[in-house]
Amino acid sequence: MKIYIKEEEIKKRVIEIAKDIEKEIGNKEVVFISNLKGSIIFFSDILRNINSENILIDFIATESYTGKESSGEIKIIKDLSLDISGKDVYLVEDIFDTGLTLNTLINYIREVHKPSSIKTVVFLDKPSRRRVNLEVDYVGFVIEDKFVVGYGMDYNEKYRNLPYIALID
Ligand code: IMP
Ligand code: MG
Repeated sequence: MKIYIKEEEIKKRVIEIAKDIEKEIGNKEVVFISNLKGSIIFFSDILRNINSENILIDFIATESYTGKESSGEIKIIKDLSLDISGKDVYLVEDIFDTGLTLNTLINYIREVHKPSSIKTVVFLDKPSRRRVNLEVDYVGFVIEDKFVVGYGMDYNEKYRNLPYIALID
């Protein structure tokens, strides 16, 4: 296992993103949605660095990968529990890779839950594999086409607890 992004670098970048979002939201009530499971650590680190008393949180879960390959078919396996209709939403995701997951999620949330707006916050961006035409609002790091684990991300459900991003050989 080789370290690809160090814990200190992650901390620094997460604070920068959190402060940008903090400025953007001011005192407005917003809902942060974590796409389980990969985004949980990024999600909680972002949240605890935003100074606001008007943040609600919720969870949704999707499934697309087995091992290192996406099936290309995204299933929603757990839905939101809050009523987010008419609310401003920040959707938090671990990796923006082919983009199929985010694209499916955004369309689903828009159609079914009718928020007033959806912004996207992703920890890693792998632009080389993109298959959809979609822009995200906040990105932690842009990376090469490598399979990474840690900081929430897994290989067959393992390594999510690592506090850094690593390459698996
Ligand atoms: P997309 O639908 O291809 O954009 O893929 C997004 C999902 O694939 C993410 O939510 C991750 O769970 C998973 N994924 C993509 N690349 C990696 C990786 O390098 N390591 C671990 N999971 C990955
Ligand atoms: Mg995964």
